[in-house]
Amino acid sequence: MKPQAVKGTHDILPEDIPAWRQLEQSVRTTLERAGASEIRTPVFEYTETFVKTAGESSDLVVQKEMYTFTDRGERSLTLRPEFTPGLLRAYIQHGMHVRPSPIRLYSIGPIFRAENVQRGRYRQFHQVNLETLGSADALVDAETVALLYDTLTVLGLDNLTVRLGSVGDPEDRAAYNRYLRDTLEPEADRLSETGLERLRLNPMRLLDTKDPSDRALIDPLKRPFDFLNSEAAAHFARVWELLELWNIPHELDTSIVRGLDYYRRTAFEIHHAGIGAQSALCGGGRYDGLVRSLGGPDTPGIGWAFGVERVLDALAEDSPERPALPGPLAFLVPLDAEAVTEVATTARELRRELPVGHAFVSRNPGRGLRDADRSGARYAVLRGTNERENGTFQVKNLQSGEQEDVQEAALTDYLLERTESR
Ligand code: HAM
Repeated sequence: MKPQAVKGTHDILPEDIPAWRQLEQSVRTTLERAGASEIRTPVFEYTETFVKTAGESSDLVVQKEMYTFTDRGERSLTLRPEFTPGLLRAYIQHGMHVRPSPIRLYSIGPIFRAENVQRGRYRQFHQVNLETLGSADALVDAETVALLYDTLTVLGLDNLTVRLGSVGDPEDRAAYNRYLRDTLEPEADRLSETGLERLRLNPMRLLDTKDPSDRALIDPLKRPFDFLNSEAAAHFARVWELLELWNIPHELDTSIVRGLDYYRRTAFEIHHAGIGAQSALCGGGRYDGLVRSLGGPDTPGIGWAFGVERVLDALAEDSPERPALPGPLAFLVPLDAEAVTEVATTARELRRELPVGHAFVSRNPGRGLRDADRSGARYAVLRGTNERENGTFQVKNLQSGEQEDVQEAALTDYLLERTESR
């Protein structure tokens, strides 16, 4: 049996790379135009950084979704299951609160979660993550959501709608959880096993249930949105008004619950209909209080992350054509043994300015042209006895079939002039 990648992980093959690069470049441009700077934090952190952030009743902790291990110094370390905790740890460690505020930071990279694998749900996947730290203003919420929407539409996704809600302040959440406990505890024997566990640990998570008997109990009940205090409600109204002003398609989600415990007030997601059950492209929200709970200053913050694999999947659903893998501009073919070293030497020189491939053994012209074509090159450059005698290369345009003899010294310029039309 052939060796296999670990379940839930995948290789990004050369032919996949153009789409990944295009996404990354576009995202960087959009986010940096909006004042974001990139930050790269380690792939693993002390486990407690993640537990403290996500919360004891989050999916990450309750469903044991973290890849945690003990190192040789008996320290408990965890592969990052999200960017936010490591980023906040770095913000605190480097005293970044003294920099001009609000500060906006983004990261792109792999994330690890020990989840049940299915389409769109992997154990190593990638996120683009953005955090804005230092302002509690609703304007920042709206602008951060708008930036997410713009980032995805610039990539080419359309028909997106932001599902926007508010989970209120911690007191509101506590009141809602109390309400759910009071209402559902008398009916506990009708709840599923997972439902019961959620009722015990974090009743709000029941709103996410797919179990039909749990749904029947929860559907008629009030929503977290009905429990907002007046300031949280006014904050939400202002975010809503700004999204209207900027024509960002949005809908109210009164029962938005996220798998992480740290959110307060604004919470949002964007879904895509074409990518199956795991339809959430991205999610995020406000998390005032979190920096302080990690031992930092009392800095408010809001952020989001989207799954790169899910967004690429959605892009492929919307427009199935893939960008082609760019081949070299020219492919050099040695037609005899002496030419093998000659073309390798010429290729080294040309590569200072151009992408160039070559064959490593001598070829007859037919086979050489086939190799050039398979490499994706636009020009085949042939070298044999005749060319050596004349101090030339024979250059063939593989699309038009046109052929020309080009002086050795003129080859770089000849090809350079033709890079535009690639
Ligand atoms: P999250 O909702 O857990 O939020 O993840 C964000 C996105 O990552 C999801 O919407 C989804 O596209 C993708 N994703 C999550 N799990 C998987 C998986 N197993 N396989 C593939 N893609 C997945 C967070 O991670 C928060 N840290 C976002 C945030 C930043 N909130 C504030 N700041």
